[in-house]
Amino acid sequence: MIKWRKMYEEKLLSVEEIAKKIKSNTVCASPIAGSEAIGIPEAIADRALKENLINIKHCSLLSMKTKKIWNPELDGKFNHITCFASANSRKAIWDKRCEFIPSFYHEIPKVWEETVKPDIFYATVSPMDEHGYFSLGIGVSTCQTLIKTAQKIYVEVNNYMPRIHGDSFIHISEVDAICEFHIPLPELPVEPISDTDKIIGNYIAELVPNEATIQLGIGGIPNAAAASLYAKKDLGIHTEMFTECMVDLIESGVVNNTKKNIHKGKSIATLALGTKRMYDFLNDNVGVELYPVNYVNEPDVIGMHDNFISINSCIEIDLFGQVCSETLGLRHFSGVGGQVDYIRGAAKSNGGKSIIAIQSTAKNGEISKINSLLTEGSIVTTTRNEVDYIVTEYGVAKLKGKSIRQRAKALIDIAHPNFREQLIFDAKKINIL
Ligand code: COA
Repeated sequence: MIKWRKMYEEKLLSVEEIAKKIKSNTVCASPIAGSEAIGIPEAIADRALKENLINIKHCSLLSMKTKKIWNPELDGKFNHITCFASANSRKAIWDKRCEFIPSFYHEIPKVWEETVKPDIFYATVSPMDEHGYFSLGIGVSTCQTLIKTAQKIYVEVNNYMPRIHGDSFIHISEVDAICEFHIPLPELPVEPISDTDKIIGNYIAELVPNEATIQLGIGGIPNAAAASLYAKKDLGIHTEMFTECMVDLIESGVVNNTKKNIHKGKSIATLALGTKRMYDFLNDNVGVELYPVNYVNEPDVIGMHDNFISINSCIEIDLFGQVCSETLGLRHFSGVGGQVDYIRGAAKSNGGKSIIAIQSTAKNGEISKINSLLTEGSIVTTTRNEVDYIVTEYGVAKLKGKSIRQRAKALIDIAHPNFREQLIFDAKKINIL
């Protein structure tokens, strides 16, 4: 311990001292969401505004807590690359200050390693343990690949970061410099479940057998789905993102992971986002392990589980069953994330099902989320060949194995009643009904 402590003192610098090491024409990469570095990139952005620093590229995913680095005045000095947008990056993507690289989440480590090739990796980590290890905490995701790829590794030690088990550690001997930057982690507040989401949750529960392994996406509907699973037995979790509702499923005994074919007894994820209560639950909890996304989201790994059920959402679906989850027309909103990884994984699983669950309308009932054709400019995230179940508050449409005419009918049946007549008219016009 004394050796690692001494090494820690030797490598310890201020945030500004580390930021000073970054030169023009450098590619830097940060982990996803709650593990992103904050102090160092913000200090580089400060420098870039005052000094003659140009062409720094910052790679991030679902950036949440950084602010200054998105300043439009940094264009040309400090620009961005991402594969998954957040509220922070959406405007930068539209303004062409952030390049967007479309990629399945399980392939993003390869994109960083083989195409983008970052020189610097910086990340928020937990305090060091007595053996010299920092936990990569709630954003393991692409970290191990970036540690291997980058020439310099800088870590921001944050006392708020939980120590999480799995392939989730970096040793001090691998780190080039350390700074301390203690700020609360980003939180996803738990929203009350709406009556509509409750109905959708109940339809989803009917599709989930006992002993299933589940993946839940982000948002109100996956939370409602979790809340409707309390009558189930022996569920397992293998998911991209560990969320607050999973704590309740574990603590109530519904999830015990005993029937999983791999990682028996453990809940597996690649990142985690929730509240402080969840981060406290994850701290040193040997029942939850985080692994790199190229493993967790690999469809072959997902497919090793029997009865794998994936539950995700989308922005719009057309009557062919094409699913858009990334854009609002031409406007970028998020990214494919792990949606297709899990849809393909569930398709490989014995007894597996993938579910896309949506409220039938958006914007207070003004817009149908089921349309004859996708809005112009929309990106097809999940193709009609892969889509399986669609669920709305009006029921369940099983699309896999159905003809184009049968799909159109099944989708119209679960669209909002106010739009069904128009949908029938449009479907006839485009000759699919
Ligand atoms: N037309 C117009 N606006 C629409 C719309 C539509 N068809 N569908 C949604 N919107 C608007 C909503 O009104 C909302 O606007 P607001 O922010 O002004 O209120 C916004 O788009 C977001 O919609 P919402 O339904 O609240 O989104 P969500 O938080 O449930 O997320 C996805 C839905 C599809 C964006 C999200 O699930 C996603 O990014 N999926 C891709 C990644 C993925 O599935 N990963 C899986 C593993 S986590």
